Amino acid sequence: MIVTGSTSQSLAASLAAETGERLASVSFDRFPDGEQQVQVGDVDDDHAIVVASTVSDRSHIELLQLQDALAEAGVDEVTTVLPYMGYARQERAFEPGEPVSARAMARAISTGTDRVLTVNPHEDVVCEFFDVPAETVDAAGLLAEPLGTLDDPLFLAPDAGAISLAETVCDAYGEGDTDHFEKTRHSGTEVSVEPSDTSVDGRCVVLVDDIITTGTTMSESIAVLNERGASAVYVTCIHPMLVRNAHLKLARAGVEAIYGTDTIEQPVSAVSVAPAIADAL
Ligand code: R5P
Repeated sequence: MIVTGSTSQSLAASLAAETGERLASVSFDRFPDGEQQVQVGDVDDDHAIVVASTVSDRSHIELLQLQDALAEAGVDEVTTVLPYMGYARQERAFEPGEPVSARAMARAISTGTDRVLTVNPHEDVVCEFFDVPAETVDAAGLLAEPLGTLDDPLFLAPDAGAISLAETVCDAYGEGDTDHFEKTRHSGTEVSVEPSDTSVDGRCVVLVDDIITTGTTMSESIAVLNERGASAVYVTCIHPMLVRNAHLKLARAGVEAIYGTDTIEQPVSAVSVAPAIADAL
């Protein structure tokens, strides 16, 4: 039985189709005081797979409620799939007095599950924070799927941290080179990118990152690539968070197309991670 959070309904349906598991009925509502109300219908299975991207504080609470509803209904074994794990980028205390927020979330989630799977977290170390077995699912290879025929492609990471993702997408595409920029972050919404010496003149460039949040990293990179004569710049990412005017920033920078996965369900979620999750289950 697959039990979806409100944030992952499309992915849960794809996963049900992929695995042949039944999709449980779940309703989402609010009490008059604004607190969340969830209800899982017809629970008569021993094993449940909860699929819930924790994209907001609200969805974190909802996940804990779903897990508790399953415990209440007597489900023996729960696997929790976090297609996108919120707070995963706070995997250490960056300043004195700060929490390791990823650990705090992992501990809470562990109380209602026997196992956790999460897709391409920003740092794999987050898996160590769970009190139950936790594994990562690598969906990067799937990002090559929507790319059509590309002329002399270059798969480019906007910073060193995304090099292995760019290599995986390049391998899955089957041809092309890989490279990376150096990124300096000045604030939450200001970055500068230092291009490499690789010529992009007349080439199709595919930017690859784990997440697009404000779109600053990608829009700066697109602008640099277009200035240097790239024939087309595509953007791919695992988690298309795309907050505020991120999509507009990419469009104004001249992106050819944006492709993300359904770990975060957005209009650009052209790729489903369901096959990768199904393999890992
Ligand atoms: C950071 O290292 C991540 O991999 C992304 O590059 C970053 O989160 C993107 O953020 P933004 O879209 O706000 O530039």
